[in-house]
Amino acid sequence: MTNNPIYCAIDTSSIDDAEKIINEIAPHIGGIKLGLEFFTSCGIKGIEKIAKSGLPLFIDFKLYDIPNTVKKSLQNILSYNPTYTTLHVSGGSRMLKECVDLKRELNSNTNLIGVTMLTSFDNDAINEIGINGTVDKNVDNLSVLALECGMDGIVCSPMEIRKVKETFGSKLKVVVPGIRNQTDNNNDQKRTLSAKKAIEFGADIIVVGRPITSADSPGKAAEIFYQSIK
Ligand code: C5P
Repeated sequence: MTNNPIYCAIDTSSIDDAEKIINEIAPHIGGIKLGLEFFTSCGIKGIEKIAKSGLPLFIDFKLYDIPNTVKKSLQNILSYNPTYTTLHVSGGSRMLKECVDLKRELNSNTNLIGVTMLTSFDNDAINEIGINGTVDKNVDNLSVLALECGMDGIVCSPMEIRKVKETFGSKLKVVVPGIRNQTDNNNDQKRTLSAKKAIEFGADIIVVGRPITSADSPGKAAEIFYQSIK
């Protein structure tokens, strides 16, 4: 494997902590994922600082709002040239298409990735918020919508990788959080799988957060993840 598909989710509220972890894990990862916890504490200056590490960036704000607000926010995000960024597919076709058009207008290479169902959701949790059917079925429907609107890929749990790859092949990149090796704590993730299996099933990118960042030695933990998929 030449390209390392591991993106580490740096979900911390401190730039110093983030930089310390990144220095330790940099040789063993493919990129850094920065999300809302980091942004709401370290701000855009924090993102600029981490971008200087030179590692590919995944800006994960899971945008979900009216089309105009999402499009304007995406324009700001694209100015940081991330390799990946996320939008909720459930924001609907108009929101998605306006974002895809913007990407084309700006000649951006950023991969627009649609969030289907959060990996913290199971069937009971989606029914509780009024979404009918199973997680699987909803992932399927939202993936079709993402493709029709011109998105580059989707986020799904390890449990859905094979189905999504069987249906869409290389037309949609598959980004997979909820990665846990056998000895790891599942935390709030409900649909988990090992890194090795996720890659075997066809994941293009795997997102690993707490099993690396909360380890006694993040560097060692990242190395073990990388070794497990080589
Ligand atoms: O710590 P952990 O490995 O559970 O981190 C997973 C990361 O992936 C978190 O940053 C979370 O926001 C993100 N994510 C997710 N489920 C999705 C999309 C993103 O867990 N559907």
